[in-house]
Amino acid sequence: MDAAKLMFKQGLMAGERILVTGGGTGLGREMSEAFAKLGAEVYICGRRGEVLQQTADEIMAAHGGVVRPIACDIRSAEAVREMVEQIWSTGGALTGLMNNAAGNFISRTEDLSPRGFDAIANIVFRGSFYVTQEIGKRWIAEKKKGSVCSIVTTWVWTGGPFTVPSSMSKAGIKAMTESLAVEWGRFGIRFNAIAPGPFPTKGAWERLAPGVSAVESAASAANPSLLARVGEMHELCNLAVLLMARGADFINGQTIAIDGGQHLMNGGSFHRLSEWDEAQWEAARESIRGANEKDRAQRTT
Ligand code: HXC
Ligand code: NAP
Repeated sequence: MDAAKLMFKQGLMAGERILVTGGGTGLGREMSEAFAKLGAEVYICGRRGEVLQQTADEIMAAHGGVVRPIACDIRSAEAVREMVEQIWSTGGALTGLMNNAAGNFISRTEDLSPRGFDAIANIVFRGSFYVTQEIGKRWIAEKKKGSVCSIVTTWVWTGGPFTVPSSMSKAGIKAMTESLAVEWGRFGIRFNAIAPGPFPTKGAWERLAPGVSAVESAASAANPSLLARVGEMHELCNLAVLLMARGADFINGQTIAIDGGQHLMNGGSFHRLSEWDEAQWEAARESIRGANEKDRAQRTT
């Protein structure tokens, strides 16, 4: 992330204590860096202890602050409980949770084994719930406010062919976001979600676009022409900070896409018409006028 492109003032997140699941790599790492740069104390978790340690060291070397790595497999409710206990015992309550950890791969749905489905659903659907519930219970018991943000995908609106376990699981997280925004809103705990379009990362591209480089992805990005590119990390980080920091407390229960409009474009029927030139439009107009005239000639009223 280009830290100079963060929109927020230094120190904005001082006093915040945020857990970023999957914070050792990819988008989670980028958001952890942004939170740390703006003064938050950040916990990052994942299954690879060395990756987490290296990320924490690199962020602290670049920006100072405190980034604490904790190896934890969020598929285990017991491991999650232990992690949260460890966090609380090293400085008290968290103020925020970023549900970012996920697993995914492309597969024809008819080829998926039950274990293949579970490999994704257990991380995304179940694991995100375990972490959210464990932290939420503590906030409620201690009468503490909190902010939960979850990284989903735009597939929560469009569906995701060839990524069905992920789409189903992310849609579940959106439902959790909307449900708990209301149920736990009365405790001062708010819930939002971010649905990123393509932001090339090693983890995602190896599993979703094998053999396709980030540059090739940018060239074929299917979003409106002036934005025909993939996302830039500072753009995601700015949205994540907005949702996690104090000052936007009235935003609750929302899932916000950050995709240059891509899902709207591809959800509509006619996005390919942006490739037409003037002659094609003129020919279409003529053809439509001809059809209208023919119908008009047959009208009896
Ligand atoms: C079919 C597959 C498969 C594939 C694994 N499986 N890969 N089936 N096609 N490509 C099956 C295996 O055969 C096995 O079932 C079962 O899944 C479990 O496999 P394991 O390798 O033992 O799983 P595990 O070690 O638990 O790893 C989980 C994982 C892995 C999800 C499979 O990819 C992972 O750790 N991912 C974490 C990082 C990640 O995925 N990042 C991308 C996030 S991007 P059988 O029956 O054979 O035993 C994202 C959205 C991006 O989420 C949106 C972009 C726009
Ligand atoms: P990534 O680098 O592979 O990130 C996934 C992270 O989740 C890894 O750090 C991984 O660490 C962690 N993780 C996986 N299983 C875990 C488990 N059981 N317990 C704890 N941590 C676990 O991929 P990414 O692209 O940054 O994806 C991050 C998030 O963004 C995901 O939610 C993804 O769905 C979402 N997203 C990404 C894009 C994109 O274009 N990149 C678009 C839309 C949404 P370990 O392997 O060490 O556990």
